[in-house]
Amino acid sequence: MDIREKPIGVFDSGLGGLTVVKEILSHLPNENIIFFGDTGRVPYGGRSKETIIQYVKDDMEFLLSHDVKAVVIACNTADSMAKEEVEKLYNVPVVGVVEPAAKKAAATSKNGRIGVIGTKATVRSGAYVKAISSFSPSAEVFAAACPLLVPLVEEGRFRKGDPVPEIVLREYLEPLKEKNVDTLILGCTHYPLLHDIVSEIMPDVNIICSGPASTEALIATLERDSLLSRSDNAGRIRYFVSDSPDSFARNGSIFIGREIHGSVSLVNF
Ligand code: DGL
Repeated sequence: MDIREKPIGVFDSGLGGLTVVKEILSHLPNENIIFFGDTGRVPYGGRSKETIIQYVKDDMEFLLSHDVKAVVIACNTADSMAKEEVEKLYNVPVVGVVEPAAKKAAATSKNGRIGVIGTKATVRSGAYVKAISSFSPSAEVFAAACPLLVPLVEEGRFRKGDPVPEIVLREYLEPLKEKNVDTLILGCTHYPLLHDIVSEIMPDVNIICSGPASTEALIATLERDSLLSRSDNAGRIRYFVSDSPDSFARNGSIFIGREIHGSVSLVNF
């Protein structure tokens, strides 16, 4: 098979990575995609580095068993904890979410004060501070761990007008508002669903999400390696999960902005 027509593998700990798939689909509609959501083990964000690396190896090996031509780590937690390991172990182009979002933030911020929100593991890793400094050494980065947000989003509690996510987000964002950041990275692929509440709390701040930034990086990587599909047909997406396919199909459509039907399979590690 022509390597360019092989699928792109995308994985996340749960549903959040679908916000990245949504962007990939809107820019690369002819690519085939294999998505793996590790829904049986979500969330990753409160776990140790060793555990996250082990989970990420499982995720990578699953995708590689489907002969993917490139992998997108659509999970900030996995990317910040395990990217180096992944690049050492596997011989496939890998695109993450941290570096592309950091690059965009460094290019966008006018006052050099950048906020990042993410899981405990992402913030603890220091990956965003490191990546932003590599693009803009004088930038000041203020990172806040927000461990309650992934469970809220996975439970469908992200809509404007719902007092629960609003109260939680106000508490997490207040210290970043006080630091006068002009750019905020939503450093978790679950958080784009909270975008409207965030922008209400921080109306003058430029918000950066993983999906658009990593899709730009993916396109650049596929172009660099001559791996872009040549097909004129709409690409096919196959979804794999490690817990109930039904609940994934039910809850995932809001993340990806289209119905998920038929093609969700259960994976047992
Ligand atoms: N979606 C993942 C991320 O981007 C986090 C979810 C989790 O904690 O597993 O960080």
